[in-house]
Amino acid sequence: MNQALSTQTLVAVIGAGAMGAGIAQVAAAAGHSVKLFDNRAGAATQAIVGIRAQFEKMAAKGKLAPEAAQAAGARLQTAEQIADLADAGLVVEAIVENLQVKQKLFADLENLVSEACILATNTSSISVTAIGAALKSPQRLAGLHFFNPAPLMALVEVVSGLATGPEVADVLMATATAWGKTPVRAKSTPGFIVNRVARPYYAEALRVLTEGGADCATLDACCREAGGFRMGPFELMDMIGHDVNFAVTNSVWRAYFNDPRFLPSLIQQDLVDAGFLGKKTGRGFYNYQDGVDKPLPATEPAQAVPLDAILYGHSPIVDVLSARLKAKNISFTHVMAAQGDTLATVGGATVRITDGRTATRYAAEKKTPNTVLIDLALDYAKATRLAISVAAQCDPVAANAVIGLLQAAGYAVSKLQDIPGLIVMRTVAMLANEAADAVNQGVCDAAAVDTAMRLGVNYPCGPLAWANTVGLANISTVLGHLANTYGEDRYRTSPLIQHHVFAQKALS
Ligand code: NAI
Repeated sequence: MNQALSTQTLVAVIGAGAMGAGIAQVAAAAGHSVKLFDNRAGAATQAIVGIRAQFEKMAAKGKLAPEAAQAAGARLQTAEQIADLADAGLVVEAIVENLQVKQKLFADLENLVSEACILATNTSSISVTAIGAALKSPQRLAGLHFFNPAPLMALVEVVSGLATGPEVADVLMATATAWGKTPVRAKSTPGFIVNRVARPYYAEALRVLTEGGADCATLDACCREAGGFRMGPFELMDMIGHDVNFAVTNSVWRAYFNDPRFLPSLIQQDLVDAGFLGKKTGRGFYNYQDGVDKPLPATEPAQAVPLDAILYGHSPIVDVLSARLKAKNISFTHVMAAQGDTLATVGGATVRITDGRTATRYAAEKKTPNTVLIDLALDYAKATRLAISVAAQCDPVAANAVIGLLQAAGYAVSKLQDIPGLIVMRTVAMLANEAADAVNQGVCDAAAVDTAMRLGVNYPCGPLAWANTVGLANISTVLGHLANTYGEDRYRTSPLIQHHVFAQKALS
């Protein structure tokens, strides 16, 4: 492994916008002298004023010694022109997201800096290979993709284009580590790791919304309270902005030659057309105008506590139900031997975890009309809400007994329309599917994809680790049923998941 650049190395940052300023702050805090250049008059000066204020704030909060804050601030200077960057040992570009403009900048830089200088681009969506193609020495260019806000987000994707020298990627990995970041290696492919693997988080929610599975507030609540995600998909899209999120989806979809995995949603297109771009315009999926309350998730009214529940075997949900019913002195029976995929029977209903079929199909195929399916939770002991779906054939009295059982165990219950795979399970299955394909296609390794999704978008668990916990065979079954229901290539199971299911091995 090559060494990190020494702190004696001058770092040049080009583009003093949101990202460039953040990257300059990180490099200066790590001990480098930093020159910041922007072709908009005054932008670099203004950014440095902002960064110094950040350092002072950190000192005031006791996060940085006052002398260290002062010294870090003093290490930053503006460059009046690009020629002033000639002595840099690393240049990080964070200018406008445009291939031609970036190519021209790097071609100019190549004629200016020393041969040893590493050139890095913070592009989030342009091919590093294509940017490098404009250089005489493309091996010296790599992607160094920070996440916003760069000083706070730990993840950096170190992206190698086709011509990137392995030693250049090694130095950037070591340097990002020395800067206090957690870097992961990625091959230059559309969306790199995070912007590719995250697509299903939005896409599955949009699909469920399109099909009337539930409203945004209910789906968001299920993703937060059962899935353990920090934000639900709709509130997150509203925060990112639909113009940005829709553009990324479109760009990844097009870049993969219209692979249906990444198919954009008409709902999001509509929001963009209407100018309902999310929080920044006061309206997206939600209305952010003053005085408008955020809608509440749909929650089932309280049902009577059933006293005839029978729980079967041991599984995360059964063990939680058993412990909680016991703690409340609610009478139930726990049969230790598992009974197929039946978790419980109560009030004449059979309760199972979703396997990607609708409850109605399950009821028909298993000849158990009173079928109620439960969604996946990250941790059933911590989840506060569970989504269920009820077969069309199910007697409402039996369904209410299941709701009563879950409520007695402390869960808020959201009854979704009978869509296949509910919301958390199908989302996690598709995140894992995409993560597995990224690994299978050599974009990154399994550890990198899990790290990237935890640190780049704050997922509570890496998608592959999560799939291992749920069981790869279960994930594969869910995907198979989704593919079968929709008849779409979008839900095809990654060959890597298939391989590990047959090999009976976890994916790591
Ligand atoms: P921004 O619009 O806030 O800043 C870009 C800055 O570059 C502006 O100050 C502009 O004056 C300057 N600039 C434009 N062309 C220039 C040139 N030829 N020479 C010198 N300066 C020039 O943009 P932002 O958000 O900071 O993004 C910059 C880059 O980082 C883009 O490639 C973007 O895709 C990428 N990125 C953005 C993220 C985000 O969340 N905003 C996250 C990760 C990457």
